[in-house]
This record gives sequence, C-alpha cells and structure tokens, in this order.
Amino acid sequence: MSRRHLLVTSALPYANGPIHLGHMVEFIQTDIWVRFQRLRGHTVLYMGADDTHGTPIMLGAKREGLLPETLIAQVKERHEKDLHDFGIQMDLFYTTHSPENEALLLEIYQKCVDEHKIERRDIDQFYCESCDMFLPDRYLKGICPRCQSPDQYGDSCEVCSATYAPTDLLAPRCATCHSTPVLRTSEHYFFKLSECSSFLKAWIQSGHVRPEIQNKLMEWFTEGLQDWDISRDAPYFGFQIPDAANKYFYVWMDAPVGYMATTLKWCRDHGQDFDSIWRKGPYEIHHFIGKDILYFHALFWPAMLVTAGFKTPEAIHVHGFLTVNGEKMSKSRGTFIMARQYLDRLDPSYLRYYFAAKLNDAVEDLDFSWHDFVTRVNADLINKFINIASRIGAIVGKNWDGQLSDIDTAADPILEEIAGAGDEIAAYMDSLSYNKAMMRVMQLADKVNKYIHDSEPWNLVTQDPDKAQAVCTSALTALWRLSVYMKPVVPDVVAKIECFLGKDIVSWEAHGQSMAGCKIRPFEKILDRLKPQTD
Ligand code: 2FM
Ligand code: ZN
Repeated sequence: MSRRHLLVTSALPYANGPIHLGHMVEFIQTDIWVRFQRLRGHTVLYMGADDTHGTPIMLGAKREGLLPETLIAQVKERHEKDLHDFGIQMDLFYTTHSPENEALLLEIYQKCVDEHKIERRDIDQFYCESCDMFLPDRYLKGICPRCQSPDQYGDSCEVCSATYAPTDLLAPRCATCHSTPVLRTSEHYFFKLSECSSFLKAWIQSGHVRPEIQNKLMEWFTEGLQDWDISRDAPYFGFQIPDAANKYFYVWMDAPVGYMATTLKWCRDHGQDFDSIWRKGPYEIHHFIGKDILYFHALFWPAMLVTAGFKTPEAIHVHGFLTVNGEKMSKSRGTFIMARQYLDRLDPSYLRYYFAAKLNDAVEDLDFSWHDFVTRVNADLINKFINIASRIGAIVGKNWDGQLSDIDTAADPILEEIAGAGDEIAAYMDSLSYNKAMMRVMQLADKVNKYIHDSEPWNLVTQDPDKAQAVCTSALTALWRLSVYMKPVVPDVVAKIECFLGKDIVSWEAHGQSMAGCKIRPFEKILDRLKPQTD
C-alpha cells in the first residue's frame, strides 16, 4: 500500500453563531475519515477555521456593542472548545481574519487580475440612507412580485419559492430600520466564471465529485455560468480590495482561501513547506462540505485556484443535512440542538457512533430522533461491542489476575473472520460508507457474543479453568480486533479498551494481532447505557 498525503478540511463555520448538531455531522464525518487514514499509515493534515467576515457578523457585533474582532475572538474560543470536546482532531483551527489569509487572497486576486478574469461593472443596488449602507439580499424585505406575500427577502420568496432580483421586490424596506431604501449605482468587481466553463466541465467530469453531484453540477452549465460579484461596498467587515476605495472582498471569496491560510499558518509554526502542499507535490486536497455550498466549492473555488496557479481539489465530499424527527432543526420546535447543550448532558462517543452508523456515501439527509438514537447506541455500541469487555473483564480479573493464556481453537473461525474483514471494512471507511462498516463490525460482534454465550466461560471456570481462560483470551482477541475498526469512530471508548487490554492500537494492521499470553488490567466501566427517558 503506497503512503498517501492528504490535506483534509471541513467547511468553515460562520463566526456569528454556535456550533450545532448539523455542523457536527460534518465534523464527525471528516474526523472519522482523518483518524481512519492516519491509522492506515497515511500522512494527514486536517485544517479548519472560523469564517469570520461579512455583513451578518458586522451587524451582529454592532448589536452586541462589540468590535467584530472581539466578537469573532470570543466565538472562536467557543467553537474550538466544542470541537475539541467532540474529539475533532484538527491540526489547526484558525480564522479567516488573519494576515496569512489576506496575503494569499491578495495573491490569488492579483493573479486573477493578471489573467484578465476580473471585470468592473456598474450595478444598481438598494441603499439605506438611514443605516448608511448598501443592503444585501437578506437585509431587504418587501412584497413578493409573484405571489404578493409580504415580508419576503430581497432574493427569494419563502412562500412561493420564486427567485428574483432585489429591484423586482415590491415596497422594499430596509430589514434593519424599516425605512425605504433608494437605488444607488456602485461599481462592482466580477470574477468571469463564464470564461472558466471548459476547464470546470472537464474538472467536474474527471472524478473529483460523485456521479450524482456531477450531474447536479452539469445542470448549471446548461443555464450558463454567471459571472460572480466578488466585491461589497463599505461598511463591510472583511479585506479591502487594493486600489479601490471603500470596496471589500465578498466573504465567499476569502472563506475558502482560509483552508490555505490555515495550512500556511500551520506550516510556519511547524517548519513545513506550504508550497509542497498547495502548489505542487504529493498532497491530495479533500474538502468535506454540505450540499448547500456545492456551487462555491465545485465552481468558484477550482476556478480561482487554477487561475492563480494552485492545485485544485482531489475530491469534494458532499453530505446532506441533519434533520431532527424528520424535520429541519428548528428553534421554535426545540429541535435546534447546540453542540454545547449535547456535551453538557451526554458523552460525545454516543453521537459519533450514531452518526457513523447512519452516514453513507450519498448526499442524503440524516435524521436524528431521540428514540432511534437511544435504541441504536444501546443495541450496538453498548450491548454488542462494549459488552464483550464487560462480560469477560470481570472473569479474567477475578480468576487469573488479568493473565491471558492461549486461543481456544473453537474460536479460530470467528477470529479469522474478524481479521479477514479488515480490507472490506477499510474499503467502506475509505469510501465514506461508514454505515456499512459499522454494520459489518456489529455483525462480527454478534458472533463474538454468541461464542461467549455458547462457551459459558463463567461456568467453565470451575469445570475446566484452562478452557475458560482460553475462551476469555479468544473473546478479548476478538475485542482487540474489533477495536481497531472502531478506533476512528469512537476513539475515547477504544482508548479505555486499550488501557484495559494493556496495549495500544497503532495501526490498522493490528487487526491481525492476538491477545494470547498478554496481561490485562482490571476492568473499569467504559460507557453507561443511554436512558430512554433522558430528553
Ligand atoms: O456555509 C457556511 O457555513 C460557510 N461559512 C462555509 C464556508 S466554507 C469555506 F469555503 F470557507
Ligand atoms: Zn436601514
């Protein structure tokens, strides 16, 4: 197996709100993949950051009487802690409001200018004279020109789903101060995406996204790619466009550059070479994103990168949304669950397992329901997997002071089957079919439990202690092997098992090892069963 070099990212969360369980689907999906690839012996860098610019953050800070810099620093601290407490093992969680990001953005922008990919055009936009600012779509409200519903945003109607230009909105109002805006002309900067069509088509059709995503993306070409407005007028919280008074880069221009800027910061801190990651060399770039931001990652981003002479992504891995009880998460229904609310009550391993058991390689929404969560976690993680340790640990501790013996030959078939499943499970993990990997592990755990049940080591202890000890040695060998497969998913649970078994899993290949002759430590509780009534 050749050693791969992977640069992996999760989408950068906005610095104006808390991390919630929707974000956690992606962070957990990415983190499992990263841990899996590391265990396989590949070199992986996992980069993340807060996405800190834009109007919502500027206005959010104003509302709280803070400087945007203060707000984003506070939010970053909370985001970092949430991610850390869920076991998300990033090499660096940085910020897009950084000197590295500004420098890289300016470099990319200058290359785009040099390549004649930037064009200036005058556009008419609503301006609020009392707020003293141009009004982006979400800051404009009015009557839908199609269905006449009141209180609709400047770009689309939530009632009839019509999309329209802000200037088509009837009776437009500033969403902040409700005054009537005026139209003002402003010069905006456009990235000529339409000129990148043939490059993008070829890129999309060469396997960097899954076929269903490829089809979705190809639909956009039939409508024709629109040039992209990359500028915003002051006041704006972001990076200024050089040689343009009071113009800023639109947040979506500098946000993905944040992936590179975080890498650059990490390289500087660790004496590593940035160019051999992003400009040339063996690193494959893998982005994990939600389906809503596909356009930015699969069109604008590769177009910017190729224009500026950087590497383009090897793969964009797209997941669906999280629903709760079959519906979109909602504050009013009480189903908007923040990461911290979860962490205050429950162990992160439950959720990591639950998401893994449900995640597949398709762009499907993933539903969380309390009942399903409790049932799945208790039935699989606790009763099948961890149960092997709790059933056997006590017997070994009491009778042989932790000393294991040889493998029971009757266990050979199941132990071989577990070791033999390594490649199959690895293929599922690599292709993001975590659900299939978990199903296979739990099938194997079922067989181990049946073996333990049928062998009755608790009775054998008096009748045939040598055999009892061999049964326990075999059961714990099975536990060890399954733990290799579970380690990327529930690292904290497996850390406790490693401690109990007295050795560490350092590579995926450890799934071939045996516990024969080892000495284990006294068993200590690993994880409680979830209680059905907790809500
Ligand atoms: O949609 C979002 O939440 C964005 N903040 C994601 C940015 S990803 C990257 F491009 F920075
Ligand atoms: Zn206003």
